[in-house]
Amino acid sequence: MDMAHNIRTATNYIKKFIKSKPEIGIILGSGLGALGEEIKEACIISYKDIPYFPVSTVEGHIGELVIGKLENKNVIAMRGRFHYYEGYSMEEVTFPIKVMTLLGIDILIVTNAAGGVNYDFIPGDLMIINDHINFSLINPLIGPNDENFGPRFPDMSSAYCKELIKKSEEVAEKLKLNVKKGVYAFLTGPTYETPAEIKALSRLGADAVGMSTVPEVIIAVHGDIKVLGISCISNMAAGILNKPLNHDEVISTAKKIEEKFINYIKEIIKNL
Ligand code: HPA
Repeated sequence: MDMAHNIRTATNYIKKFIKSKPEIGIILGSGLGALGEEIKEACIISYKDIPYFPVSTVEGHIGELVIGKLENKNVIAMRGRFHYYEGYSMEEVTFPIKVMTLLGIDILIVTNAAGGVNYDFIPGDLMIINDHINFSLINPLIGPNDENFGPRFPDMSSAYCKELIKKSEEVAEKLKLNVKKGVYAFLTGPTYETPAEIKALSRLGADAVGMSTVPEVIIAVHGDIKVLGISCISNMAAGILNKPLNHDEVISTAKKIEEKFINYIKEIIKNL
């Protein structure tokens, strides 16, 4: 099937339901789902109703777009994202980003839960992503390039918009939040890393590690969308503390800082 056609069809379907063009796309990662409830005049569209949109196979997983106003800006938020480790292709993982690009967003805010690699971090910290390392060695742009979306060889030297980083730092200061900054390393998962892998990642310049975000960011950069990435450090990465890692810890830390995270994102959006 022709991917460009599928993306256009999905975009046109969504356009029928919305009054104004969304300016900001938001991927709500762990610990940010409730931000969707703060979107005013919301139009909620279930992924399963959008033609060609991937759907979550996990029962109980929310999969919907929330389109409306946040801090008086037109936003489109993804509640539920697709991970490569779930078995989705890179095309499926990044399909929503291409749709948001066609809908006209200028800015994409990506959020996630990540393991802390940097010893100065503690669980519950927020980290502005200032760069990434794609340790999956898979790239969602592999294959024929659609020049309508972007160039064959996209420049990644400022994938994370410097202006948005600066603004986010200023907002953190204003809110008296101690927000960290660093490099996000992407591995496919679903296993957590080994202590040796974390030691290696640390030496190679990673500050945090996770299983999402990078494919979406690559597609956004390709489409000339400004990206802001923020990680919630949900746990220290493997081997740093003398204890095993588990998903419950990731979820419970994300839950604990949800309010702080939501207020921070809202204040950033207000200042855009
Ligand atoms: N590793 C990879 N992904 C993660 C982690 C981690 O420690 N925590 C949350 N997502």
